[in-house]
Amino acid sequence: MAQLYHLVILFMVLITAEAAYRGPACPSSCRCLHFEGLQSVYCNRTGINAVPSGIPPDTQLLDLSENNIERIALDDLKGLKYLQELDLSSNRLDESSIESRALDLTKLVTIDLSFNLYKSIPKSLPANISKLWFFNNNVQILKSDSFLNYTNLQYVDLSNNNMVAIEKGAFDPLLFLQTLYIPFNNLTDESIPPGTFNGSTNLQLLSVRFNLLQHMFKYLPCSLQYLDYVGNKIITIPAYSFVDLPNLQTLSFWEGQVTTIEDNAFFGLSKLKILDMNMDKLSSAITNNTFAGLTNLQTCYMYSNSISRLDIGALYHFTSLSELWLQGNKMSTLRPEVLDVKYIPKLSQLYIDSNPWYCDCHLRWLREKVDKAPYVIQDTHLIVCAGPENLAGKAWDVLKPSDFVCPS
Ligand SMILES: *[C@@H]1O[C@H](CO)[C@@H](O)[C@H](O)[C@H]1NC(C)=O
Ligand SMILES: *[C@@H]1O[C@H](CO)[C@@H](O)[C@H](O)[C@H]1NC(C)=O
Ligand SMILES: *[C@@H]1O[C@H](CO)[C@@H](O)[C@H](O)[C@H]1NC(C)=O
Ligand SMILES: *[C@@H]1O[C@H](CO)[C@@H](O)[C@H](O)[C@H]1NC(C)=O
Ligand SMILES: *[C@@H]1O[C@H](CO)[C@@H](O)[C@H](O)[C@H]1NC(C)=O
Ligand SMILES: *[C@@H]1O[C@H](CO)[C@@H](O)[C@H](O)[C@H]1NC(C)=O
Repeated sequence: MAQLYHLVILFMVLITAEAAYRGPACPSSCRCLHFEGLQSVYCNRTGINAVPSGIPPDTQLLDLSENNIERIALDDLKGLKYLQELDLSSNRLDESSIESRALDLTKLVTIDLSFNLYKSIPKSLPANISKLWFFNNNVQILKSDSFLNYTNLQYVDLSNNNMVAIEKGAFDPLLFLQTLYIPFNNLTDESIPPGTFNGSTNLQLLSVRFNLLQHMFKYLPCSLQYLDYVGNKIITIPAYSFVDLPNLQTLSFWEGQVTTIEDNAFFGLSKLKILDMNMDKLSSAITNNTFAGLTNLQTCYMYSNSISRLDIGALYHFTSLSELWLQGNKMSTLRPEVLDVKYIPKLSQLYIDSNPWYCDCHLRWLREKVDKAPYVIQDTHLIVCAGPENLAGKAWDVLKPSDFVCPS
């Protein structure tokens, strides 16, 4: 009996210690913990339809996502003067849900309102907001006054909003904007007025992935480092398209409709490290001037296109190139001068499988390189001859250079 009594006492001491350790009480539906340096309160996916009461006043991160919240009243978050980050994604919020000033908390700068019912950017966000996640709403038209009062925004994600138009000047107030995602919308050339990004002179990343653009933007801020046109309907990359973007490091066009790169298209991109044109429809010859100016390129992705011809000096601009991805094209032969390592001294990985190689004496040099080049020719078991007839269907890992012959 005495033993049991002692156990009970010990148990009560432990509970008290635990409560003291936890600090102020936590709302019953939530979990309060210190996580990644922040006092965090997780009430996500708990079935609540209102902000719970009793949120500890020292809360820095509040996660209310995946609930049925329809309203944030003026006093719901009152006193949370340390709150920095608020996640309200996947609720039932619309323009009338957040009472004016309800989010005016001095430290609140990061808000997630994705997967709600908004048709416009709400007017009741905090004046100091710097990061806004707003994907999967229904902002079909982005109004020109959308960001008028949110001039500190640095990061905006408007993915997947059914957006068909951006009104003139919508981003003009965002002088500090660094990252802008507008992918997975229905934007066309006509739906984005020229000069739309002129005001964002600090923009570093712009993604318009999977829209309906047929042409590239005429004016972009020269601060850009990452430009993403993936999955659009751009057919031609005209000469000198990027001369105003000297700071670009990554340029992506994959899964698009690009058939033609004009000579000198990339001229001026002397800091570009990655060019990604995989899964396009490139059929133009790669000439001596296609890649002019890309002296710092490290990775060139061009797989799954229809490239059949590389001119002898086509790769000579690539003094920094390490990886060249050319598999899945229409190349049947290649001159040895094309891969002269005098001009492409840093080449380390070469991908050329899934091309219709014609394995005669003219290509023997390339099979020899498999065994003794300073670079690695990858996936030799997938490099298969399309001809001549006696070698058709044979892979390079089972062929020897001496098999590559011409009729005498
Ligand atoms: C709430 O969010 C946190 C952090 O993302 C996650 O670890 C946790 O599993 C979520 N809780 C529920 C009930 O989904
Ligand atoms: C915005 O942030 C500044 C500096 O952190 C702070 O002094 C000011 O009160 C904030 N403004 C609002 C409306 O919370
Ligand atoms: C900007 O804030 C002012 C003052 O709070 C307000 O009167 C105005 O309607 C707001 N404008 C927009 C476009 O939200
Ligand atoms: C956007 O495109 C998708 C897919 O084509 C379509 O289902 C949707 O209705 C379009 N939205 C608008 C607002 O046009
Ligand atoms: C955008 O900037 C370019 C120059 O970089 C200028 O020619 C153009 O008129 C500007 N457009 C707008 C709408 O400000
Ligand atoms: C391309 O460059 C190579 C090597 O510099 C040169 O031999 C060849 O004549 C050039 N081709 C054309 C069409 O200018």
